[in-house]
Amino acid sequence: MKTGHAHLYIPGPTIIPEEVRRALAVPMQDHRAPEFASLLTPIRYDLRPVFGTTDGTIALFPGSGTGAWEAAIANTLQAGDRVLMARHGMFSTLWVEMAERLGLDVDVVDVPWGAPCPVETFARKLAEDRDGRIRAVFVTHNETATGVASDVEAVRAEMDACGHDALLFVDGVSSIASVPFEMDAWRVDLAIAGSQKGLMCPAGLGVLALSPRALELAEKATMPRGYFHLFDMVNAHAAGSFPYTPPAPLLHGMRAALDRLAAEGLDRVFDRHHRLASGVRAAVAAWGLRTVAESPACASDTVTAIYTPDGVDAREVIAIARDRYNCYLGAGLGPLAGRAFRIGHLGDLNEGMCLSALSIVEMALNAAGARVPYGAGVAAAQETYAAPYTLRVVDGGIAAE
Ligand SMILES: Cc1ncc(COP(=O)(O)O)c(C=O)c1O
Repeated sequence: MKTGHAHLYIPGPTIIPEEVRRALAVPMQDHRAPEFASLLTPIRYDLRPVFGTTDGTIALFPGSGTGAWEAAIANTLQAGDRVLMARHGMFSTLWVEMAERLGLDVDVVDVPWGAPCPVETFARKLAEDRDGRIRAVFVTHNETATGVASDVEAVRAEMDACGHDALLFVDGVSSIASVPFEMDAWRVDLAIAGSQKGLMCPAGLGVLALSPRALELAEKATMPRGYFHLFDMVNAHAAGSFPYTPPAPLLHGMRAALDRLAAEGLDRVFDRHHRLASGVRAAVAAWGLRTVAESPACASDTVTAIYTPDGVDAREVIAIARDRYNCYLGAGLGPLAGRAFRIGHLGDLNEGMCLSALSIVEMALNAAGARVPYGAGVAAAQETYAAPYTLRVVDGGIAAE
């Protein structure tokens, strides 16, 4: 029998804070009654700062991030449209597959898993596309399989530099609500999040944020859509409802999660993720192991993927952590299976929780045959977490403390 609580360090679903868990336990209600509108409408309003938008339209689709991918494409693009995408991890690979299944003409740029979105290659392809065949550029902001963050702002800058007017789509499933996301400033046309990561809720809602331009294009979309028809959703949302039965308890959870994010302050949330991730990265370096992320510059603040030493099966590390220590680590996906494991460090997390993950990983690594000095990673993270803390000033919004 497992005792104590499970240590959940997968990169989503994340740990659900107690008040969110309590908020989920509500009696069923009439989703056509006026009080439902007073639940839904403020949620849509309060999601906007999380996406960094003031004029974006928020649509909440029952489903998950994958459903939101489909809703994004089907509502704004047409079969045969050319889109530019990079494949550099499992989620960007699956997004490419989704685009191809929906009939898009995908120009795929393959880069090694561990590399970020290849901004220079994108820039070249956009500059060469003089007759504007590329209708949309897709960026996976945080490749959860590799722990790699990409520079959306840089992609936008390259699009501007060559005057390309393609749409900019961003998968922010494992970044939004955990790290800075500036939909308006980066002029993202369509951003995608899921309820189960930085938003600290169970899976079940795919969140889309659409720019006014994306919304306008959606009016002309011709791809067949049924359940995911955007205007069914935004029109129902405008009336404070859903076009079909909504997952009401999840919305109560989302309400509590948004209140919590606001109480902490988004800048502090982002800063905490950066600090926690820095400690995990310090631990990996102290173990003498390599991150899958090819350089610190592209290392994600929400998940770290770590190669095991040669001869050490990452699946065994994960199994030992799970079976002996009641600790769940993220698996190596696709070609990383057996070669890497992941530590998710996003959501409702603090220093002590990260230190406990790192200490368990040290035991699991050693039991699986890796020679990692006990305490080395924990000590390195402690040094990071014990350092005097200065809040980074984001947009001059908060004074350093
Ligand atoms: C970056 C990214 N995109 C998309 C998805 C797919 O989301 P879901 O599993 O919620 O369908 C995930 C899931 O982990 C993800 O990490």
